[in-house]
Amino acid sequence: MLVDKFGRKINYVRIAVTDRCNLRCSYCMPENQHFLERENLLTYEEISYLLNILSREGVNKVRITGGEPFVRKDISFLLKEIAKIDSIEKLTITTNGVLTSSYINELKDAHIKQLNLSLDTLNRDKFLLLTKRDEFEAVQTSFHSLVKNNFLVKLNMVVMDEFNTNEIYDFVELTRNLPISVRFIEEMPFNGQGNSYSGIKWNYQTIVSHIREKYHLRKLQDPTNAIALHYKINNFAGNIAVIPAYSRTLCGTCNRLRITATGDLKLCLYGDPVLNVRDLLRSGISEENLIKTIQNAVLNKPLNGFEAEKQKTSSFHESMSIIGG
Ligand code: GTP
Ligand code: 5AD
Ligand code: SF4
Repeated sequence: MLVDKFGRKINYVRIAVTDRCNLRCSYCMPENQHFLERENLLTYEEISYLLNILSREGVNKVRITGGEPFVRKDISFLLKEIAKIDSIEKLTITTNGVLTSSYINELKDAHIKQLNLSLDTLNRDKFLLLTKRDEFEAVQTSFHSLVKNNFLVKLNMVVMDEFNTNEIYDFVELTRNLPISVRFIEEMPFNGQGNSYSGIKWNYQTIVSHIREKYHLRKLQDPTNAIALHYKINNFAGNIAVIPAYSRTLCGTCNRLRITATGDLKLCLYGDPVLNVRDLLRSGISEENLIKTIQNAVLNKPLNGFEAEKQKTSSFHESMSIIGG
């Protein structure tokens, strides 16, 4: 079992499979991001081996991340390998949607039923301005194709002051007829440029109040371990959620472990890595010792993101594409 010192059972692992994102969202990474060499990445065999071990320790939910995980060659192979692990009940992906529409059949083959899609604007020019790539149509195609093929889609919209706050109502409107979840995310200081953050204007309360000015939001019961607050508008097909990613009010029930593309194990989105599983695997560590090492590391999972940030040895804020979201 993976349990921390607060008794939280860690059953959700997020694995980034690449740092080579095909967009350059300004809140995430600079244009001239330095990419990692391939040999530094965990191989598919290493990821599968690791997940097999972790699944025996109670991990039953796995999310594949990496900006656009489909940029990594033969990702379908990895998805099928993970799908074979019986005790992993939920395998899911967070994607920017640039390549996703070409993988619908592969997603079905790997029994993937839900995906989180990042989309911060419904305007093509603004999309180009934000991501520096003219891929708006491709993302739209993926979005509609996923919905048409009955995947459960959660649309992630990072709320940026003076950039897309005037589109919040348009995003809410998407849930009128589509059975999707639209999630408004507070912007976090992970843009790979080491900028210090003094606060955000659009925190989760401001976002909810803004939506309430126009819609009657009914609070829904949040799923266990959720890091989002969920709401429903009567007679709308979908629902709305707000993620206090910067305010970090929902960290207390966190059940996540992150593994970056290079095998760094992170106990919190905000903290430093605590060990590198790639190096341990390549040093020939036994399965038993690997489990013990990870169990011991997990014990120290910080209670919340503020505590994790305090333990950081550097104040540099890395790119979300390396952390894996
Ligand atoms: P579900 O499994 O569907 O709940 O998705 P998710 O929210 O775990 O995944 P996703 O990749 O869509 O992440 C969306 C956003 O949630 C990220 O951009 C972060 O802002 C936020 N988030 C994810 N994990 C954490 C976490 O451990 N702590 C905090 N504070 N925010 C997180
Ligand atoms: N702040 C908030 N959310 C971010 N994401 C990436 N960078 C940031 C940031 N600085 C989001 C993406 C994606 C999710 C995994 O993380 O939009 O939906
Ligand atoms: Fe944008 Fe996600 Fe790529 Fe970062 S990893 S540039 S947020 S699509």
